[in-house]
Amino acid sequence: MLRSTACASAPSKQSSRIVSNRMRRRLVSSVANYQESQQKLKTTTSAAAALSTSSASAASAAHARTVSVQSGRSLQQKFYENRILDRYTAQEPKKVTLRQLVLFGRQLTEDKLVASANYVRSELPVRLAHRISDFQFLPYIAGTNPHLKMVYDLYWRAFDEFRKFSPVKTLDDNRRFCDNVKKNLLEHSQVIPQLGMGVAECADLVAPDEIDRFMNQMLISRISRRTLAEQHICLSEQYDDDLRAHLGLTATEGYAQMASAPRGFATQRIGIVRADCSVAQIVNECAMHAAGLYEDAHHLPPGTAPQVIVEGHTDATFMCIPAHFSYIIHELLKNAMSHVMERYAARLESDAAALAASSGRGASAFGSEPLFPPIRVTVCSSHSDIVVRVSDQGGGINPEVLPYIWSFTHPLKAKRLHNFHAVNRMEARVNEADAVAPLMSFGFGLPMSNVYAKYWGGSVNVHSLPGYGVDAYVQLPRLGNVVENISARRPQVATGV
Ligand SMILES: Nc1ncnc2c1ncn2[C@@H]1O[C@H](COP(=O)(O)OP(=O)(O)O)[C@@H](O)[C@H]1O
Ligand SMILES: [Mg+2]
Repeated sequence: MLRSTACASAPSKQSSRIVSNRMRRRLVSSVANYQESQQKLKTTTSAAAALSTSSASAASAAHARTVSVQSGRSLQQKFYENRILDRYTAQEPKKVTLRQLVLFGRQLTEDKLVASANYVRSELPVRLAHRISDFQFLPYIAGTNPHLKMVYDLYWRAFDEFRKFSPVKTLDDNRRFCDNVKKNLLEHSQVIPQLGMGVAECADLVAPDEIDRFMNQMLISRISRRTLAEQHICLSEQYDDDLRAHLGLTATEGYAQMASAPRGFATQRIGIVRADCSVAQIVNECAMHAAGLYEDAHHLPPGTAPQVIVEGHTDATFMCIPAHFSYIIHELLKNAMSHVMERYAARLESDAAALAASSGRGASAFGSEPLFPPIRVTVCSSHSDIVVRVSDQGGGINPEVLPYIWSFTHPLKAKRLHNFHAVNRMEARVNEADAVAPLMSFGFGLPMSNVYAKYWGGSVNVHSLPGYGVDAYVQLPRLGNVVENISARRPQVATGV
């Protein structure tokens, strides 16, 4: 298929000669790269470790596209595939804001739904192509890692499927398109554990900064693709539901009525976006969920986990994707709860015998005195931003770990990423924490929360108060008018290009 596409685009003998000469040159250089890479692979770990020095960036450029060589397809085929990839990486993603998603999703019509499908259909391969290209520019030694290779292959398959999907013209086309997108979302739920294991195994071989940049880029782009895909699926499902609700009318009447209805204004929920998300409500939901996880994990009666007190601007609302905001708050509350409970474990043990009889959240087995100091969540809302502070008395962050809390791959953190061997799928969502042991540390929660916040132009910061506790801050734009923070290209510094 790829070959025939390329042949069809060679119009004359002259141009085909130019193409084939150029191709030969590229093949020769690819083979040279390949041989050079093979030579490198035979060298000892010390040579591999040399790649992890600051010269790793230059090495990665020299070993460009070695991953594709490893995939078992012929060099010639890979050459044609890379030509197609280049066409897509030459395009910049068309970025959106939350506000645009909301405005577009209100008063949905069939034409708008079809336009949305075609936007997603053409946007996904562009965003995937940039990340496939990142894999190809990884140092050779990382490109041979089976977990990273698995993600690379998944991305290629998805890239191929979406770029070949015919333009969507009707609602039926759209249903087929949505089925395809859903299948991809499901398949790609293996990506986070596979990336985690892959970068953990490369932690001693590649400079931590370089692999952290790679990981951040992969995850932020992943969120962006899922946002577009899930928004479109959700809008399509809402449209189908509304259509069914109008079945009493003729199709034309039904569509006309739906188009004029003030869709979304009543609920302020447009697809996966909420225009008026209540910060306090999300914090309370996450607090209940996290408390349940730790009470179950420690076999404690309900109501025993540290109390979460929400204060400040408790009626604040903002425009966000609740699933993204919940993930961040849930991770911060899990960290706070686990460290508070751990710090007060001795007391917990001494009270354990009587715990079964205790009742009421945070109440001690011996009276009304709480077992744990509370976690305070302060909400602050300005015209442009929402800031949430999560304060705990869990003793602060271990100073050995503190410098690396945002890194995925510093050796101290990489050890924890190996725990992904116990997890098949992870989509970085709150409700999946039930399936993933809450006591297992992946060293993933803080960096992933930061990726979610950064994607929407926000941030997560942590201040450790040694011997006392931690203050964690989340800042997010309130009005949804900040464009997705995805950089399409590899940073210059990372590749030396
Ligand atoms: N509130 C906190 N109190 C004490 N230590 C913390 C807190 N939050 C994070 N940490 C430290 O930072 C590390 C990284 O946190 P995180 O990224 O959430 O990963 P995980 O919780 O899976 O270990 C934790 O393992 C812990 O050592
Ligand atoms: Mg955590």
